[in-house]
Parts: sequence; structure tokens; C-alpha cells
Amino acid sequence: MSSPRIVAPDAAGINEAARLIQAGDVVAFPTETVYGLGADATNDTAVARVFAVKGRPSFNPLIVHVANIGAAKHLVRWTALADKLAAQFWPGALTLVLERGADCPLSLLVSAGLPSVAIRLPAHDIATALITAAGCPIAAPSANASGAISPTTAAHVAASLGDKVPLIVDGGPCQVGLESTVIDLTGDSPILLRPGGVALEAIEAVIGRSIPSALDDQVHPKSPGMLASHYAPRAELRLNAVSAEPGETLLGFGSSAPAGATNLSARGDLEEAAANLFALLHRLDETATKIAVMPVPDTGLGRAINDRLRRAAKRD
Ligand code: TXA
Ligand code: MG
Repeated sequence: MSSPRIVAPDAAGINEAARLIQAGDVVAFPTETVYGLGADATNDTAVARVFAVKGRPSFNPLIVHVANIGAAKHLVRWTALADKLAAQFWPGALTLVLERGADCPLSLLVSAGLPSVAIRLPAHDIATALITAAGCPIAAPSANASGAISPTTAAHVAASLGDKVPLIVDGGPCQVGLESTVIDLTGDSPILLRPGGVALEAIEAVIGRSIPSALDDQVHPKSPGMLASHYAPRAELRLNAVSAEPGETLLGFGSSAPAGATNLSARGDLEEAAANLFALLHRLDETATKIAVMPVPDTGLGRAINDRLRRAAKRD
């Protein structure tokens, strides 16, 4: 594994990083919590690349980073409670999960097919400068290989991802060094999805009530990893289908799919298939009653694709 390029966070470094993001590539950058592996949050292929570079076994939804509150309001259905929390904790280590807004331009893959999106305004000048220069919201999980410890220096990122990441913007050590606190605001009352950089007590003090935790099994959040059937299309799914039976609509994969069929990737490319997965399922679900999905190889991103397909096929 050879070394990635590490650049200073000056105008030249920020501009180079912004150009890579605009081109659909990924870049590691500092935030006050941990280093993020950033991509254009509106670009399915760029978001798929984040999962590929991290080697994530499944498509967990990613946090979308914005440079100001106004930008957040364009992406989600903003609420009074979001306003209250953002006024107190943004910029900062608090992530708010809110419903996707009407005409939300974000990739469906960024929220792993959920109707919600996690959003954060980081308290880090280099991060907000990069988001502004790129001109798009930036999706970013921690910039480490899946299962490894989160990176709080550029050297950690380089050690974990090597040259799988083309560029690291070096902002020195992260101040918070712990991921953001994630609060789900999509239900009747807020739920803690992940403890993090902002103390729960501080949030409870602002809201004026206690917040139950999803780690407590009395609480049932709309949290992805915890639900077997987390992306549930209306249509029935039949997996590993060789071809479509009468009444079924085919979702193909690879060159053996019939010409003209909807195809996750006609050239059998798993990164392309990952980028297309949620958008194509949504599109077919508008008209199909049964969707027959051709087999996808269970390697690399294919494992995550199959994981999500299995969840989508579950009827519970
Ligand atoms: O501090 C941080 O939050 C760092 C820096 C880079 O900003 N980012 C980070 O992202 O930790 P990530 O992708 O590793 O963590 C995302 C967390 C996961 O726990 C995920 O389940 C939750 O946020 N999440 C994201 N979108 C969600 C959604 N729509 N509904 C529920 N949970 C969501
Ligand atoms: Mg992480």
C-alpha cells in the first residue's frame, strides 16, 4: 500500500480537494470530531465510492455535512425542534436525523434508502471551506477502513486507507476526536441513536425533557441497522432470479440480462450497481407488483447490495 497525497489546508489544498469532490471522487478532510471521507452527497456514484473505499460490509446511511443552516433547510423537512437544537449546538458535534425534504437532491444511497437523512454543520473552518468550495453538501463517514478505529489525524487516515483515498487535507489533530451525537427527530419525540461529541445532558437541558436511547431495547427507533426490513418496497421481491416469470418485472445485473431490462449494471460493475440500487428499486416500485432480481455476486460491494436486497425482500 503506497502513501496517499497529504496537502496543507491552504487555498491550493482546499481547491484541489473541492475539484476532486466535484469530479465524483472522495477526499479525506478534518472536522472537529474525526476525519471524514467526503464525497458529493448528491452523486450516487460518488457516494458508492465512499462505501467501496471504506470496505463497509453494508450500506449504513451517511452523515451529510453542510456549511450553514440555510443549506440544511433545503435538504430536509426542518422542524421547530431542529431549529432549537441547531441554534444551540451548530456548528458542532450534533447530527440531526430529519425527513428528506420535497425534491431533495441528495443521493438515495446516502440515506441507504431511508426516508430520512442525517445532517450536521461541522465546527471546523477547513471543513466548511471545503463544502463551500465544492458547492455541494458532503457525505462523510469517518475516514477509516470499516471496523478500524476512527481517525483523528491525517496520519491515521493514511495508515488506514492508504492510497485508496487520493487526497488527505491535513488539518492537524481533531479537537473532539469522537464522532458526533446522533439524534433522531423524525418521530413524535427525539431518540438518541448514537452518543457522541455533544453530551446527552446538554441536549436534554435545551429540550427540557429526557431523551430515550436506542441502545435501550425499550426504544424502537427508525434506525437502519436495528431493523431486519429496513428498506421496504411495496412490491414483492424475488431474489436470485434467472429470469422474470409472468407478472414480474426484472431487475437485472450484468451482461446476461435481456437487452432493454432495467439493469443495476449492464457491465457487471458492483460500484455502479451500488450507486443505482436504491434509485432503481424506487423507480420499479412505482409500477411493479413483483420484482425479480437477478443474482449479484457476494463479494466487495456485492455483499452490501445483497444485504440490502435481503432486507428489502423481508415481509415483516
Ligand atoms: O462525527 C461524525 O459524525 C463523523 C464526522 C466525519 O462528521 N461522521 C460519522 O459518520 O461518524 P458515520 O457515517 O460513521 O456515522 C453515521 C451515523 C451512524 O450511526 C448511522 O447509523 C447514523 O449516523 N445515521 C445516518 N443517517 C441516518 C438516518 N437517516 N437514520 C438513522 N441513523 C442515521
Ligand atoms: Mg465510523
